Amino acid sequence: MTNRHAANTPEPEAEKPDVAEASAAQSGAAAVHEATVHEATADEDLTLPDDYQPDGDDWYGGQPTKKPKHFWPAAKRLVGLLAPEKWLFAFVVLLVVGSVVLTVIAPKILGQAMDVIFNGVLGAQLPAGMTLDQVIAGARAQGDDQFADMLEGTNVVPGEGIDFGLLSRLILFVLALYLVASFLMWLQGFILNRLVMRVVYGLREKIEEKINRLPLSYFDSRQRGDVLSRVTNDVDNIQQALQQAFSQLVQSLLMVIGIAAMMFVVSWQLALIALIALPLSGIIAGVVGVRAQKLFVAQWKHTGDLNGHIEESFTGHELVRVFNRDAQMAEEFDRRNDGLFQAAYRAQALSGTIMPAMQFVQYLSYVLIAVVGALRVTAGQMTLGDVTAFIQYSREFSQPIGEMAGMANMLQSGVASAERTFELLDAEEQDPDTEESHLPERTDGHVSFENVSFSYDPETPLIENLSFQVTPGHTVAIVGPTGAGKTTLVNLIMRFYELNGARILLDGVDITRLSRSELRGHVGMVLQDAWLFDGTIRENIRYGRLDATDEEIVAAAQATMVDRFVRQLPDGYDTVIEENASALSAGERQLLTIARAFIANPSLLILDEATSSVDTRTELLVQEAMQALRADRTSFVIAHRLSTIRDADTILMMENGHIVEQGTHEDLLERRGAYHALHAAQFAGETESAVASEPAEVTDSAEISDPAEVPE
Ligand SMILES: Nc1ncnc2c1ncn2[C@@H]1O[C@H](COP(=O)(O)OP(=O)(O)OP(=O)(O)O)[C@@H](O)[C@H]1O
Ligand SMILES: [Mg+2]
Repeated sequence: MTNRHAANTPEPEAEKPDVAEASAAQSGAAAVHEATVHEATADEDLTLPDDYQPDGDDWYGGQPTKKPKHFWPAAKRLVGLLAPEKWLFAFVVLLVVGSVVLTVIAPKILGQAMDVIFNGVLGAQLPAGMTLDQVIAGARAQGDDQFADMLEGTNVVPGEGIDFGLLSRLILFVLALYLVASFLMWLQGFILNRLVMRVVYGLREKIEEKINRLPLSYFDSRQRGDVLSRVTNDVDNIQQALQQAFSQLVQSLLMVIGIAAMMFVVSWQLALIALIALPLSGIIAGVVGVRAQKLFVAQWKHTGDLNGHIEESFTGHELVRVFNRDAQMAEEFDRRNDGLFQAAYRAQALSGTIMPAMQFVQYLSYVLIAVVGALRVTAGQMTLGDVTAFIQYSREFSQPIGEMAGMANMLQSGVASAERTFELLDAEEQDPDTEESHLPERTDGHVSFENVSFSYDPETPLIENLSFQVTPGHTVAIVGPTGAGKTTLVNLIMRFYELNGARILLDGVDITRLSRSELRGHVGMVLQDAWLFDGTIRENIRYGRLDATDEEIVAAAQATMVDRFVRQLPDGYDTVIEENASALSAGERQLLTIARAFIANPSLLILDEATSSVDTRTELLVQEAMQALRADRTSFVIAHRLSTIRDADTILMMENGHIVEQGTHEDLLERRGAYHALHAAQFAGETESAVASEPAEVTDSAEISDPAEVPE
């Protein structure tokens, strides 16, 4: 049940996390403001989307079920998943059939046992030595027609008491029936479990493989939470649907048919009475249930509202403090909490009447059956045992019907999940890897772009016809305004995206002719956002090269200024880094990712804003260390702080996906073009001399301005 609920979490929350990332103070304030403006009015409670359709069976407060877009194709494919196990599945169905047949027969036999007792008690009171017909005739002669009628419906042997031998045989037989039925049920559950687990295991594997073949653009264009839930919740949901819905649906259906059949066999008159309860229950469900469902939708809406607000106030916690909005947030919370209270109260109050109403109908038919049954027994048209059997049937009848409704819901949600999972499995894949070419163990790092064109979205061209060559061992700095396409350029080298035109060569080999893993094995990359996983600092560094020794890790850490702060941590290299609540500063996290690239010792190094959060002094020290690292390899360095890339062999100045200038720092300054402008803007606060021809001073002054920072 938990899974199902998790899978059905109302949409608005799933999309919230972005709020946390909107780091600009402004947007945070806007969010707070928006939250305050929203007012939950009472009228809103019952508004529903136009295309809303009630499920008709979830009256007790379950969340609105996700509906598959096309039920049958997805359902068929879901069943198709069972195809490899079809014989086993058929066996499971057979077991269910067996179990149901035995369960359905049992009350009838128990009724016969009842008759044995009844006949015995009655027989003992009649004179021995007479036949039943004689006793009946005698009764009629005395005017006791009612007694005579009743006797006619039995096969009492006058003078004989309870046949305990027969009675015990019958009871043992019933016991055996129930025992075997339960065993069959257990066996089918056991087999089905294994079967479903195998199917779901296979499905998970398929998804995992698929995810590795999906291009990055697939993930770009989708919400992370959505993809994640397809892989986790939806698969759980499918498992649940297969495990429970299928077998239970079969079982419940067979039970309903079997019990209905037995009811008609025992007494069609009573069967008709029992069936009257059905339309009555249907009316209650139709009238009250649909109305209750609307209220539940309102309740979920308010729950989503409240949760959204809570999440917002936690993730934007600091901003709330910054803008002094605590009081407003608390007020807003109260209002939403109030709204939820009202909605939930109304929904529960109404839905709370459904169960008692249905039960009342149930009891009504129960009493009717008892009365009519008793009359028929006294009229000799039915045995007492059949009446008790019938009552048992009528009680068992409603249960599988209720279960089927629940299962239908679960099945629907399972099919919806299957549909979403199949969508993922059918998504277009990246071009398959080829292994037409190979690179030597150590490449020179000669990179050339030949007329490269690329854009994320065909409508908005980004990189067009870009060509340049990088001499092996050179450090290439890529600079340019935000959104110029710097990250895009290096993403293309990594083949995160496929080119729209022409090619990129690494040591003369077209990178599309290499397998992606071989290509990436030669490249080390430090991304713009520092990604660290849950694990110790040591593990995070070792991620760059799994066979690195502890000494190598420390050496890499020392070279990248990581060692300095790690030593100050109580647990040193064994400090566990947790995803969000990390004790490390942004700059320290960046340094860690640099250490990771350092230890990988790649032929080609790509640093995308790798030191943007690090202070200038540390950055310089890292630069020095990187110098050693960069010595015999080609590196691409993207940096906004121009001071850090002054020594680059080549600087590529990018604007709108084009390289507008290319050359060394001095060349470009002399040219007085785009680079010069950028440079001037960056150092506008500095002295005239710094802006002009002697930029070395800039760094010097930075160094001097903060002498306390200098480490020993
Ligand atoms: N995954 C993506 N899908 C679609 N468009 C994208 C994607 N990534 C970037 N873009 C767009 O492509 C353009 C270039 O982005 P890119 O990340 O290369 O810029 P950048 O030069 O690295 O900027 P910054 O200095 O801010 O990191 C931008 O206009 C951006 O909006
Ligand atoms: Mg970038």
